[in-house]
Amino acid sequence: MRSVILLLTVVTVIGGPGLPARAAEPTEAGVYASLPKGPGRDAVYFTCRACHSQLQFTRQRMSRAAWDGQITTMVKKHGMAAPEPWTRTLILNYLSAHLGVDEEDWQGLPPGSGREQVFYLCQACHSLAIVKQQGLSRDAWDESLTWMVKEQNMPEPEPADRKLILDYLSENLGITRNLRPKRRR
Ligand code: HEC
Ligand code: HEC
Repeated sequence: MRSVILLLTVVTVIGGPGLPARAAEPTEAGVYASLPKGPGRDAVYFTCRACHSQLQFTRQRMSRAAWDGQITTMVKKHGMAAPEPWTRTLILNYLSAHLGVDEEDWQGLPPGSGREQVFYLCQACHSLAIVKQQGLSRDAWDESLTWMVKEQNMPEPEPADRKLILDYLSENLGITRNLRPKRRR
């Protein structure tokens, strides 16, 4: 009897045989540091940290589509094990929520070629609300750009940029649709 109690005591003290070693949990302040809290963080942490520092991706800001492409590159070029579809979705949700480019950052400018140029050039002096509320013909946008340069000190864009900007404005914030003569029978 006494030896049984002794054995139990010994087992309790050394923790018992065969207990699985617990992996250290990543701590909030430590390793997770640059990964904000949110669903999918563990999936990103354990998948992406296998090969490189998380700084390799936490400094980047990309659209969801670009992150998706990045994952494909990791799998195709760098030998990352292809994640299960649900894990991939979880990872993508996390990356685009926390390391994404926000649609709201464009102040409501519709997507399209030239958006970036319009955004950075015009927003330097005034809210884009002024630009969005117009709805001008291509000629009127053209005049408006000239007026910005001549009278408001807007730097003259390079010809290629100017065309891109004009295309964007007249396609996305134009009234060409209304000006086109309607064919009726
Ligand atoms: C099997 C290894 C492996 C895994 C897992 C992996 N990567 Fe990579 N990743 C690489 C290698 C290799 C490079 C290129 C390293 C270099 O250029 O220093 C890289 C580079 C990158 C870059 C930088 C690309 C650039 O053009 O600067 C990003 C962003 C990135 N990885 C994101 C991720 C994300 C997000 C995950 C998780 C979904 C991930 N990686 C998982 C191997 C991996
Ligand atoms: C260097 C400063 C500057 C830049 C850059 C600039 N604007 Fe302006 N913009 C102004 C000022 C100042 C006004 C207000 C003028 C006024 O009301 O007299 C204005 C007004 C406007 C208006 C309103 C005109 C009206 O009749 O109410 C439109 C439209 C406009 N800008 C379009 C643009 C577009 C498009 C861009 C980018 C391609 C742009 N602006 C870039 C300075 C600028």
